[in-house]
Amino acid sequence: MTKTSPQVVLVTGSSSGFGYLTVTHLASLGHTVYASMRDSQRRQATFSHLKRITGKIIICELDVTNSQSIENVIQQIATTEGYLDVVINNAGYGIGGFFEDLTAEEIRQQMEVNFFGVQNVTRAVIPLMRSRKKGRIINISSVAGLNASPCFGAYNASKWALEGFSESLYHELKIFGIHVCMIEPGTYKTKIFFENSKYAKEFDNPDSPYYTLSQRLKRRVMAYVQKTDKDPMRIAYLVEKLMMKKNPALRNFPDIETQMLLAVRRILPFKLYAGFLQKALYQDKLI
Ligand SMILES: NC(=O)c1ccc[n+]([C@@H]2O[C@H](COP(=O)([O-])OP(=O)(O)OC[C@H]3O[C@@H](n4cnc5c(N)ncnc54)[C@H](OP(=O)(O)O)[C@@H]3O)[C@@H](O)[C@H]2O)c1
Repeated sequence: MTKTSPQVVLVTGSSSGFGYLTVTHLASLGHTVYASMRDSQRRQATFSHLKRITGKIIICELDVTNSQSIENVIQQIATTEGYLDVVINNAGYGIGGFFEDLTAEEIRQQMEVNFFGVQNVTRAVIPLMRSRKKGRIINISSVAGLNASPCFGAYNASKWALEGFSESLYHELKIFGIHVCMIEPGTYKTKIFFENSKYAKEFDNPDSPYYTLSQRLKRRVMAYVQKTDKDPMRIAYLVEKLMMKKNPALRNFPDIETQMLLAVRRILPFKLYAGFLQKALYQDKLI
C-alpha cells in the first residue's frame, strides 16, 4: 500500500504501453483505477489479463476524440465513486513524416488525439475535482514537446501545444487546489514505434523529395529504439510519486537522456545546436 490513502484514478489509453503499466501498478498499490481504452471488446486480451490482476480495476470504453464516450465514463465515476482524485492523460500516438509528405488531415488528426483529446478529458474531469478543491491532472507529454526534430513535426506540434496548455492550466487550477503536471519521457520501446506506429501518406513514395532522407531517418530511429533498454515501468513509478508529492513540479523527467539533451539545448546557441543535429542527420544531403 502507498503512503497515500487509496485514490480514484482515471487513465486514458490503457490498452498498452505506459497506460497499461500504470493501471496495473496503481491497482497493485490499492488504488481504484478506471482503465479506459478505445475499444475494450477488441482489446479482449488486455481485458482478461487486467481482470486477473488483484486490485480494483474498472475497464471502460473511452476514445479521447469522442465526447460522448468521455461523458459516459465520467458519469460512471461520479455515480459509483462520487469523486475523482487523479486523471492520467496518456492516450496518444506519433505520426512520422516531413511536413510536405503529410496531409492536412493527418496533422489535424494528430492534434485531435494528442492535444484536443487531452483537453476533452480534462474539461470533463475538472468540475468533479473543483467541487472538492482537490485533484491531480497528470499529462504524458514528451521530450518531443520541448525539442523538435525533422520528420516529427506533427507530433512535435501536438506535444508543444500540450506543454503550453498544461503550463497555463497549472496556474489556472492552482486556486482550486488542483495540481497539473507533466511527465516528459525520452524514448521507450512500446507499441508506439511498432503496431501503433503511423507514417505520412507520402512517406514511402519514392517520388517524394524527402524519400531518401525519411527512409534513412526511419532506419536510424528504429535502430535507436531497438537499442534502448529503459524500462517503461519508470513512467508508472513516476506517476505514483507525483500522486504522493504534496506539491508536484510542472515538468517531471523520468530519464537522464532527456535531461542531458535539454541541458545541451540550453547551453548551446541554437544555430550551433542545429548545425550539429543537421550534420548528424543529413550528412551529405546538406546544401
Ligand atoms: N514510448 C515512448 O517513447 C514515448 C515517449 C514520449 C511520450 N510518449 C507518450 O506516451 C503516451 C503513451 O504512449 P506509449 O508509448 O505507451 O504507446 P502505446 O503503447 O502505443 O500506447 C498508446 C495508447 O494510446 C491509445 N490511443 C490512441 N489513440 C487513442 C484515442 N483516440 N483514444 C483513446 N486511446 C487512444 C492506444 O489505444 P489503441 O490500443 O486503441 O490504439 C494505446 O492504448 C503517448 O501520449 C505518447 O505520445 C511515449
